[in-house]
Amino acid sequence: MDIKKMIQDMTLEEKASLCSGSDFWRTKAVERLGLPKLHLSDGPHGLRKQAEGGDHLGVNISIDAVCFPASCGTAASFDPELIESIGETIGEECRAENVAVILGPAMNIKRSPLCGRNFEYMSEDPYLTGEMAAAFVRGVQSRGVGTSVKHFALNNQEHERMSGSSEASERTMREIYLAAFERAVKESAPWTLMCSYNKINGEYASENHWLLTELLREEWGFDGLVVSDWAAVNDRIKGLEAGLDLEMPSSGGDNDRLIVEAVKNKTLSEEVLDRAVERYLKLVEKYIEHDTTEKYVFDKERDHNRAVEFAKESMVLLKNENHLLPLSEKEGILFVGGFAKKPRFQGGGSAHITTSHVSNCLDESKKRAQISYEEGYDTESGDRDEAKLEAAVEAAGKASTVVIFAGLPDSFESEGYDREHMRLPEVQNELIRRIAEVQKRTIVVLHNGSPVEMPWINEVDSVLEAYLGGEGVGEAEAALLFGEANPCGKLAESFPIKLSDNPSYLNFPGKNKKVFYNEGIFVGYRYYDRKEMEVLFPFGHGLSYTKFSYSDLTADKAVFEEGGALTVSVQVTNCGDREGKEVVQFYVSDLTGTTLRPVKELKGFQKVKLAPGETKTVSVTLNDRSFAYYDEEVKAWVVPQGRFEILAGGSSRELPVKLEISAEPKNKSVFRADTNTTVGEIMDIPGLYEAIRERLLPKLSALLPKANEDQGQPVSEAISEDMERAILKYMPLRGLRSFGHLTNREVEELVDLVNSEAEKL
Ligand code: BGC
Repeated sequence: MDIKKMIQDMTLEEKASLCSGSDFWRTKAVERLGLPKLHLSDGPHGLRKQAEGGDHLGVNISIDAVCFPASCGTAASFDPELIESIGETIGEECRAENVAVILGPAMNIKRSPLCGRNFEYMSEDPYLTGEMAAAFVRGVQSRGVGTSVKHFALNNQEHERMSGSSEASERTMREIYLAAFERAVKESAPWTLMCSYNKINGEYASENHWLLTELLREEWGFDGLVVSDWAAVNDRIKGLEAGLDLEMPSSGGDNDRLIVEAVKNKTLSEEVLDRAVERYLKLVEKYIEHDTTEKYVFDKERDHNRAVEFAKESMVLLKNENHLLPLSEKEGILFVGGFAKKPRFQGGGSAHITTSHVSNCLDESKKRAQISYEEGYDTESGDRDEAKLEAAVEAAGKASTVVIFAGLPDSFESEGYDREHMRLPEVQNELIRRIAEVQKRTIVVLHNGSPVEMPWINEVDSVLEAYLGGEGVGEAEAALLFGEANPCGKLAESFPIKLSDNPSYLNFPGKNKKVFYNEGIFVGYRYYDRKEMEVLFPFGHGLSYTKFSYSDLTADKAVFEEGGALTVSVQVTNCGDREGKEVVQFYVSDLTGTTLRPVKELKGFQKVKLAPGETKTVSVTLNDRSFAYYDEEVKAWVVPQGRFEILAGGSSRELPVKLEISAEPKNKSVFRADTNTTVGEIMDIPGLYEAIRERLLPKLSALLPKANEDQGQPVSEAISEDMERAILKYMPLRGLRSFGHLTNREVEELVDLVNSEAEKL
């Protein structure tokens, strides 16, 4: 395609027409120039292809497709290769259905367990989210289909999502809410990126020049197309100038006319329009010029089987006392709860996939053992039913083992609104409690897209978090329960004991169209760790039917030099008697004390498969970003100088091996004092205070406790050095004018002295 020529050949009206959709899902064609329409479609947990007159809330039917596990689960696989193969599969389905862009991955950070779309999102951790999103993008795009990383940015709730403003500091944005997008953009070059509905610090994302141009393109090097979330456009002209290329869905031609008028009356430069058109044409080019000699077919059976495999890797064994799982008996097992027969396997809204092939654990388990079943409550209405409850409790008392299938009903979790609390329906909590009273061997299987409180956790032996497992949920659950597959998922989010423990609790979901991210960078485990709080289950936690041990954490060098790399390696051994997979996690802890930081942050992970008795060395390479924080003063990522600790293990709260290294920044910040520098800042530089102390102290008689000068006692003997330091710490040098009777000139001389001594260090 000769894009430049094509733009030259287009009329102003044609160019403006390419800046918005022709209908709900498709862009516009320019037949005269042989330019086709492109079809964009939801997902991303499968293909949600609708006819032209669709909707964005999952209300209308879409083609029969294959539903993969939701991202809450696939992120728990901690397995980028798996995510990449999900992407490849969806990419092939898109090709077969002539879909040019799949609208995902959805990758907003899980700030609160209540966000209605958490099931679609990946993690509370930006590093994990970024790695997983990048892998998905790689997978899809390898098939010549575009992705749309969404929702950029700070769209972490549904409440007032189309009008509210997310208020956060630049450090909070950079370190937590933007970092995953940055990683995905830099690592995998998504063809498109979807800007979110909300405002950021008062400016709509769709009109935010800093976000869409300065940061995204100029700093991160994004060269794809920015598309609006569906109806996220407020002022089309301002959006175009900010870097929003394509408005979706159609504006009925109104905004196209506005663009034409604006160019004609010179309130919009034609170059800005051409730039958006060029980016759109590049997208078309990528799609149509992809080598399609290999014909893709949408093979639903093959993809269903893949969905089963993906689900097995995405479930997390939270608790397993007395080795209750895997089930070994062939009879006497009782299943309770409607989700055994009709599982909840996906969330609501634009991610909703139409599928006709959902497996359930009851039917699948009956192929393996004799299973009886009780509903326990009215699963249709979700209501308590005394007779069903009593029947379940009675049968539970007689069974050898009980598996309760619990979880959140559809109405609790969806796009469009947030959850109001973090509890399971009370009828289910009661059922679990009552059964656990009469049955020691009780297992709970959970179906939910976001954490729930578990008031009964100490009464049951085993809990399997199945998340929303997609259409293969039943087969995957049965394989895990009966031990044909070994659980290997790890939590990509912390499970707090109760909602009010969550750091966003006081500020979620905000009021009057503003939500303040006052917890700052302390999101998820970053907060629970710093506060030394107990959690129900920590980030990174997940059990297996085997056990792993860790030893010999080493680094290839003792000093990390900024701009370089440092490889850390650890030995992991499967010390149980089954094959299993472990997610080896590496966290970095800043001991330099330069600024307030989380106790530790995930900076590397790798999933390994180990045979019984086998040991493998697992290595990850750390770089600047593994050590840096974002400094708002200097507006840059800064690697602080000093000691760091690297910790490795199988959960954020079980890190048995550690080592210390130090970091050397490229440009050591040169200390420069001025009249506002405090004595404490001088004391923080090793050796500096000592170098000036003798000259300083005699001037400070007014500040320090009186020496008995009459008897010739020097100041330095009147108080201890610790006290002297404590008293002087917060004193700016200029303060010595009043307290130390220094003249302006003497203060200036002191500043010069400090600076010249600092240079000598
Ligand atoms: C959602 C997007 C989705 C789009 C199209 C919006 O409401 O926020 O995630 O891709 O609709 O359905």
